[in-house]
Amino acid sequence: MALTHGGQLRKVSEQYHIPVDEWLDLSTGIAPFSYPVPAIPQIIWQQLPQYSPELLTAAKQYYHCDNVLVSNGSQAIISILPTLWQKQNRKSTQVYLPFKGYKEHAQAWGNAGFEVHWYYDELPALEQLTSNCVLVVINPNNPTGKLFSRGTLTIYQRAVTERQGLFIIDEAFMDVITPNQSMSGYINGNNTLVLKSFGKFFGLAGLRIGFIIANQQWLTLLAEHLGPWQVNGPAQFIAVKAMQDAKWQAQQKEKLSQQRLALKKLLLNYFGDDINGTDLFLTVNLNNQSQAMYMYDSLCQQGVYVRLTDDQHSLRFGIPKPEDMERLSNSLGQIRLFP
Ligand SMILES: Cc1ncc(COP(=O)(O)O)c(C=O)c1O
Repeated sequence: MALTHGGQLRKVSEQYHIPVDEWLDLSTGIAPFSYPVPAIPQIIWQQLPQYSPELLTAAKQYYHCDNVLVSNGSQAIISILPTLWQKQNRKSTQVYLPFKGYKEHAQAWGNAGFEVHWYYDELPALEQLTSNCVLVVINPNNPTGKLFSRGTLTIYQRAVTERQGLFIIDEAFMDVITPNQSMSGYINGNNTLVLKSFGKFFGLAGLRIGFIIANQQWLTLLAEHLGPWQVNGPAQFIAVKAMQDAKWQAQQKEKLSQQRLALKKLLLNYFGDDINGTDLFLTVNLNNQSQAMYMYDSLCQQGVYVRLTDDQHSLRFGIPKPEDMERLSNSLGQIRLFP
């Protein structure tokens, strides 16, 4: 079954009869400021994409890791992991997943026949983890923003390894976290896989690039499975430049952090203070389905598209550009009190 995600502007625009180009789209956690796409040499369009040592070197430096594989977005990896893992450990049947979080993980493991154990805000207790289990952590979580420290994750890594299990850490939004809590430099030859999404922080989700950091055995297996030409040449070219550009990255962090503060200040005028997130999105927890749906619908009617979360109790706002703040503020101000 296809899951609901943000970024479905065409669908929503048809539903509300408002042309696509009249919307303020805050439905994703993709940075509103994109890395400026450089001129791409003609030869790169003309040739088949090739193995790019430059891209791997840039990714290793950017993520501070030794072993990395590039893919067509981290989603490409999420969907194939369960079958690859099943082949390696036939005794593995149980997976621990965050109840709130990017639902493609649950879909992939559920489809492969794994028994899903949800955990809520906190990780499952260590003694709960079964032999050969899979533990998935989205860090920081989307949409809750919940962040586990590297210290905590290292303890879980040890526990999962002792149980011959698999530890997956989805770091799609880690780029904006300071101090950095990434596990990318801490895979230690274990069955630990770290997923990275390129498009969110660099504001280039359309490029479709993602990375996986794991031991060499895993990377070889995944590379065989993914086959050649996973990532097109122009995307590789742009990603190398973006990952090497430390000055732009620092500016991007600063801009996102300022805009997050501005968004939070605005949201506090209209909602309670149960607002959490990262510098790439803020989630307003309304704890009330009818109210969240009412607010979502009222914003859509004014051409402002935010993400109603899967449990329909919260609204996730992408970070607006400074020039879009007034429109968002006016639209929130127009909403009549929840009946
Ligand atoms: C937590 C999380 N992980 C992974 C992905 C997949 O992203 P991509 O395939 O663009 O790397 C998303 C997309 O929204 C996400 O929110």
